[in-house]
Amino acid sequence: MTTSPRRYHITTFGCQMNKADSERMAGILEDMGFEWSEDPNDANLILYNTCTIRDNAEQKVYSYLGRQAKRKHEQPDLTIVVAGCVAQQEGESLLRRVPEVDMVMGPQHANRLKDLLQQVFDGNQVVATEPIHIMEDITKPRRDTTVTAWVNVIYGCNERCTYCVVPNVRGVEQSRTPDAIRSEMEELGRQGYKEVTLLGQNIDAYGRDLPGVTPEGRHQHTLTDLLDYVHDVPGIERIRFATSHPRYFTERLIKACAELPKVCEHFHIPFQSGDNEVLKRMSRGYTHEKYRRIIDTIRQYMPDASISADAIVGFPGETEAQFENTLKLVEDIGFDQLNTAAYSPRPGTPAAVWDEQLSEEVKSDRLQRLNHLVAIKAAERSQRYMGRIEEVLVEEQNPKDKTQVMGRTRGNRLTFFTGDIQELKGQLVNVRITEVRAFSLTGEALVPVTSNQ
Ligand code: SAH
Ligand code: SF4
Ligand code: F3S
Repeated sequence: MTTSPRRYHITTFGCQMNKADSERMAGILEDMGFEWSEDPNDANLILYNTCTIRDNAEQKVYSYLGRQAKRKHEQPDLTIVVAGCVAQQEGESLLRRVPEVDMVMGPQHANRLKDLLQQVFDGNQVVATEPIHIMEDITKPRRDTTVTAWVNVIYGCNERCTYCVVPNVRGVEQSRTPDAIRSEMEELGRQGYKEVTLLGQNIDAYGRDLPGVTPEGRHQHTLTDLLDYVHDVPGIERIRFATSHPRYFTERLIKACAELPKVCEHFHIPFQSGDNEVLKRMSRGYTHEKYRRIIDTIRQYMPDASISADAIVGFPGETEAQFENTLKLVEDIGFDQLNTAAYSPRPGTPAAVWDEQLSEEVKSDRLQRLNHLVAIKAAERSQRYMGRIEEVLVEEQNPKDKTQVMGRTRGNRLTFFTGDIQELKGQLVNVRITEVRAFSLTGEALVPVTSNQ
């Protein structure tokens, strides 16, 4: 009979939303008496928090799962949980495919982990994928860092982009109340966190589902109002938010970002394609002209703002000329960073069954050409930092050089400089930039600008 504590391991795939959910689920497990196991093979509870945005993300999950399923034959007390977006998409059929799995739970059920596990320990195989109202989380998340934290503000997505599984797996939009968000941030401030990233798949939709309209007839709770409301939380020095949808990005929001000193000058606004016909077939609801106007307005208010985005190449029917419009947009705007992907047909999405699917060769050729341009433009954008003094929030030691620490500028550029992590972790340090690369910078510290009480 062993009396060793129960040990858990979580492997997280996918976006920041999943990372935030994993931190909350880890908090729940620790509350239940589980201890973190760095080695998954040493854990008696394995949780995969999965992603299904593209086919390769989904396949990765099955290969990990296969290994643990095998282990279960030698170690029957192993509990295997599949959470997140593949779980939601596959539901019960996942149990048929991998019968060793004990529980399949969709993202909306993350905060119910304790109750659901109780059912597993009572001897049931559990499938929790029905849509529910997401409960406020009462457990403390186990966060990966002690400097920066994610805070969910809106779950789900009500858009219907024709390539995207997210609305199917994350459900309809559900905003948290401004008070719940603020009190989570206050707690983070008390714990010494310095930076918060507010999260939503479509964060500009924040508040649409909350009651209340202003005398002018607009929703009372918008992202702009939320930024105002949480801006003075003590201890929190920087605020970011992601992901923005071009359709809802307002000048009112841009103005607030320019005026609120803690809100960092970095905007992540995916455009997906630079071609109006493709955008229409994606059901994105804007044109490339509108996208350009948003960026122009941001740069009017904040000339130095960093802009990042996501783009898809090889959408069904995309012609060479239409793809070149994406290259042109990237050329013209000059993104600081761009996440690129080849279109991947996803189950249950309209575009997956269209006739004009492109070959893998065409998609990967376009992806390569786009990535090449992205690196050139990012390197150009990095040049503006040369010799400048940038405020860096120190997060970690540089894993490749122990004499250095690393952190991010307000514009979100990863920056390295010589220093002692014990002394500098969580500090805002002014750094003179001496070396620039496409996606990172190196510099030397001036005197620290705040002290870490
Ligand atoms: N809510 C965000 C994006 C969420 S998904 C938005 O509206 O922009 C993250 C990124 O994955 C997307 O921006 C898109 O670029 C990419 N993506 C989504 N579905 C995809 C698919 N079927 N194939 C390839 N890339 C996809
Ligand atoms: Fe997917 Fe579109 Fe929603 Fe983004 S806005 S999550 S791309 S459906
Ligand atoms: Fe993936 Fe789900 Fe996020 S599909 S990108 S983990 S919302």
